[in-house]
Amino acid sequence: MHTVFRRVELPRELRSLLIFDRKVFRESDRFDKDYWQTLESYWMVVDKVKVGCCAFERHLEHATLYIATTGVLPRFQRGGLGRLLKAWEIAFARHHGFRRLVTNCRKRNVAMIKLNKSFGFRTVRSMPGYYFNPTDSTVFMELHL
Ligand SMILES: CC(C)(COP(=O)(O)OP(=O)(O)OC[C@H]1O[C@@H](n2cnc3c(N)ncnc32)[C@H](O)[C@@H]1OP(=O)(O)O)[C@@H](O)C(=O)NCCC(=O)NCCS
Repeated sequence: MHTVFRRVELPRELRSLLIFDRKVFRESDRFDKDYWQTLESYWMVVDKVKVGCCAFERHLEHATLYIATTGVLPRFQRGGLGRLLKAWEIAFARHHGFRRLVTNCRKRNVAMIKLNKSFGFRTVRSMPGYYFNPTDSTVFMELHL
């Protein structure tokens, strides 16, 4: 298995990001073009296939890296690649000197919450009504590095 993590090249790969987002997330959870363009995004490429993607916002004033999204293509899920991508996100944050990683997801997203917890993330708070279609709370999680 040949695995590469590389920065998404914008604007050249914007379309590819939007297609990836459509494959991984329901419509109400997808990002629009403008938001994607503000993010620092990375592909996880396995054997030349873009199987995973994550995106960050750097909040340097708080030495905090916000993970805006983490996703693995459905046909590659449950094979350990989500765990690999999460481990890379943590390594990326440490390597760049961040002191804290934060992220959020739907309260019903058991897969992501379990995955985050397995790396030591803890729930900071939950906010009801954050998501629509379906209405759901968000769970904010953090990991001190
Ligand atoms: C969350 C996600 C990235 C996990 O990717 P994955 O490749 O399936 O993850 P892995 O196979 O590495 O599994 C890692 C752990 O996640 C948890 N997990 C993954 N899928 C799960 C599921 N369907 N139900 C419960 N736990 C699950 C488990 O704890 C698993 O560890 P285990 O196999 O030791 O039990 C993937 O499900 C995904 O892309 N979901 C859609 C996008 C999304 O919701 N992202 C989060 C919001 S940004």
